Amino acid sequence: MSATVIRGSEIAQTIRAEIAEEVKKLQQEQQITPGLVTILVGEDPASQSYVAAKNKTAGQLGIHSKQLTLPAETSEADLLEIVARYNQDETIHGILVQLPLPRHIDEGKVLFAIDPAKDVDGFHPVNVGKMVLGEQCFLPCTPHGILELLSRSGVETSGAEVVIIGRSNIVGKPVANLMLQKRDSGNATVTLCHTRTRDLQFHTRRADILIVAAGVAQMIGAEDVKEGVVVIDVGVNRVGETASGKAKLVGDVDFEAVAAKAAAITPVPGGVGPMTITMLMKNTLQAARQAGELQTS
Ligand SMILES: NC(=O)c1ccc[n+]([C@@H]2O[C@H](COP(=O)([O-])OP(=O)(O)OC[C@H]3O[C@@H](n4cnc5c(N)ncnc54)[C@H](OP(=O)(O)O)[C@@H]3O)[C@@H](O)[C@H]2O)c1
Repeated sequence: MSATVIRGSEIAQTIRAEIAEEVKKLQQEQQITPGLVTILVGEDPASQSYVAAKNKTAGQLGIHSKQLTLPAETSEADLLEIVARYNQDETIHGILVQLPLPRHIDEGKVLFAIDPAKDVDGFHPVNVGKMVLGEQCFLPCTPHGILELLSRSGVETSGAEVVIIGRSNIVGKPVANLMLQKRDSGNATVTLCHTRTRDLQFHTRRADILIVAAGVAQMIGAEDVKEGVVVIDVGVNRVGETASGKAKLVGDVDFEAVAAKAAAITPVPGGVGPMTITMLMKNTLQAARQAGELQTS
């Protein structure tokens, strides 16, 4: 079997065009320009590039974006004060605090301080709780992007055996939750695996849809999957880094080997990554719309 490659970069482009249209409409009809602030504490190179990509995409879609870069020694109290300021700022509809934060700052405290109505990352406990209950809320970007990838590629989740590797709060747990919701994009039978899973291969080989978010380069090979599986590779791993900083990006799945057996598979890069940023833009648009509805009600 030769797999269909699920090209996240192309699907993301389509969704971004839809968002740009909606942004224009919101400006014309309600004079509201969606606004996003990204807050980066410290100089982690990966975080810097993620934040730059988010701001660049926002600009391309007509979303007003503000990039705040704070020194690594910024105190928790100062960061909380900055978040409180943006909670009150009517030109900003979405607040994104780039994770991870330096060790001296309590991440949970900062995420909890963001107004849930501006929590475009979907990490505030109010939004997490609503997601679990199946209520309208900001969905976390990577899991939401995975759902979009599957539905726009015509992959049926209803009744499917979905096996997820990884139980992080930002990927594994929310994906598992969304997949088991009683709605079209869910209705799956879900198995969530992690480092204490006794026989990982037993589970992966049963999967109709395998979602891998472990952060272990090419841990899934052809022997770990069944014929016809749909594979979503969330992992981003830098391998072969040289002194000059050149590294290759690979996923958690051995793409070539698994593609020979799979029905469909996402590449790395160009799979899940572009969808994550796109869903952030979608959430920012949603936040601006909701702010507009509050103004007129
Ligand atoms: N493309 C994107 O937009 C995007 C977004 C987010 C993350 N990512 C990437 O996705 C990967 C996962 O990210 P994350 O933040 O969810 O990672 P994380 O917080 O490090 O969690 C990794 C999870 O994988 C599990 N795991 C690790 N090795 C395993 C193994 N050998 N067998 C079974 N389970 C294993 C861990 O189990 P335990 O809980 O037992 O430790 C943990 O639950 C990373 O490569 C990250 O860069 C990509």
